[in-house]
Amino acid sequence: MNDPLAAAKAPFVLPKMPRWRSLLRSFALAKDPLPVLNQILTHHGDTVQVFIGGVEKSILTRDPGLTQHILQKNHRNYAKSKFTQGFSRYIGHGLLTNEGPDWLRQRRLIQPGFHRQRVAGLTGLMQEITAETLAPVVAKAADAGGAATVDVHELMTRLTFRIIARSVFSTNFPEAELDRLAGLITEIQAFFVRSIRQPYLRLWFQLKGRFKYHDALAAELRTLLGDLIAQRQKANAQPGATPPDDLLQMLLDVRYEDTGEAMSPDRLIDESLILLVAGHETSANALTWLTYLLAHHPAEAVAIQQEMTGVLAGRTPAFEDLPRLGKALHAVQETMRRYPPAWMVDRVALADDEYNGLRIPKGTLFSLYFHGLHHDAKYWPEPEEFRPTRFAPGQERPVQANTYVPFGGGPRLCIGMQFALTEMQLVTLELLRQFDIQWVPGQLPVTMQPLITLRPKQDFRVKLRLR
Ligand code: HEM
Repeated sequence: MNDPLAAAKAPFVLPKMPRWRSLLRSFALAKDPLPVLNQILTHHGDTVQVFIGGVEKSILTRDPGLTQHILQKNHRNYAKSKFTQGFSRYIGHGLLTNEGPDWLRQRRLIQPGFHRQRVAGLTGLMQEITAETLAPVVAKAADAGGAATVDVHELMTRLTFRIIARSVFSTNFPEAELDRLAGLITEIQAFFVRSIRQPYLRLWFQLKGRFKYHDALAAELRTLLGDLIAQRQKANAQPGATPPDDLLQMLLDVRYEDTGEAMSPDRLIDESLILLVAGHETSANALTWLTYLLAHHPAEAVAIQQEMTGVLAGRTPAFEDLPRLGKALHAVQETMRRYPPAWMVDRVALADDEYNGLRIPKGTLFSLYFHGLHHDAKYWPEPEEFRPTRFAPGQERPVQANTYVPFGGGPRLCIGMQFALTEMQLVTLELLRQFDIQWVPGQLPVTMQPLITLRPKQDFRVKLRLR
């Protein structure tokens, strides 16, 4: 077995976890999935057949080659599974939940709205909202002798929701409307995840009218967005109106190449809703975990501050400065390795396929376990260590291809990747420009709660000390 290719050439044997054992584990899995999944993989190897909730047969994998095969090399054969499709009942058929030629048509239409230069144009807005959101903390700290304690997940969720909501809709929402919008999205997502992870509760949910209730919440969400879009169209129709340069306007302005037509009102709701859903919790969670890690690794925070002082000498960064402020970006990247917001992604095989001798019959479900891949010691020495320099250029052991997938891969790579990286780098810089981050002792241990995204089970506090 000295030949490194021997393993790749060997027929792929798929370990199978029996249904009864999956069912036994399903309660533990629903309660705390990551340790259960890690244990299964440690026991069986990087790819294993399991039954989700004791019901759905699925292949769980953290194998980088198989992950790349599904997301990229043979992506045409893999659609999002019925789990994601089920989500469209509540959030519609925007890019994230759409499939096939219709998805491709929408993706081509929307992609230019996320190019680097478009994102560069949103830098000022991102900074303005970050400063606005941190201002009360600065004031509170100044009043209290130089430091204020904050609930981190709450703060980051508020911040990123405001950034995405105003990047899409520009207009200053009334606070209550913003909160309602965020609350609806959170409630719907939480219910959806429960109904997937504990399929045996579906009948109970049906009897208790829980599906109906959440359908009504989804309808309210669409009405809210529909009203905002209609307001914009009305404002644009005024003589001499100058439409704002935001993502909604991009969605309103684009035209299908073949027909020259604009998106239908329903489509506009679908796509703007998807941007809010996909673009808010992911970044909030990454920034929450980043704050957690920096509070526990103050030397990494100091390194970012020193680089910032050297490059900016006190001014706020412009988009063009970001490449010279690599330490903040590496900290963001390392955070998403340890705590990938999209911790698991699903696919289903549309036709029979094969990968390295693994027979994949049509209909096979896959759970691509990004968290497992990002913690595999074969690719990440001491995976539990927070080490941003893994992502710095010139490393003796550079990041290996296909082992780092926080934004997915292939044609369905996150469309908001550039947006999110810019946003997270800017927030990190602004936070550390104003404050030192200190852990508040005596809190319960912070644990992970993997819903659709990976968040902390309960919020935690840090002390932000004015610099
Ligand atoms: C840390 C932040 C983010 C992470 C980790 C993240 C992660 C991901 C991942 C893994 C996918 C692919 C899912 C799959 O293949 O099944 C995805 C897709 C997507 N993301 Fe993000 N995302 C982030 C931020 C954003 C932002 C800020 C936006 C919008 C402004 C956004 C919009 C989308 C959309 C629309 C899709 C679907 C793309 C398609 O299928 O064509 N994401 N994201």
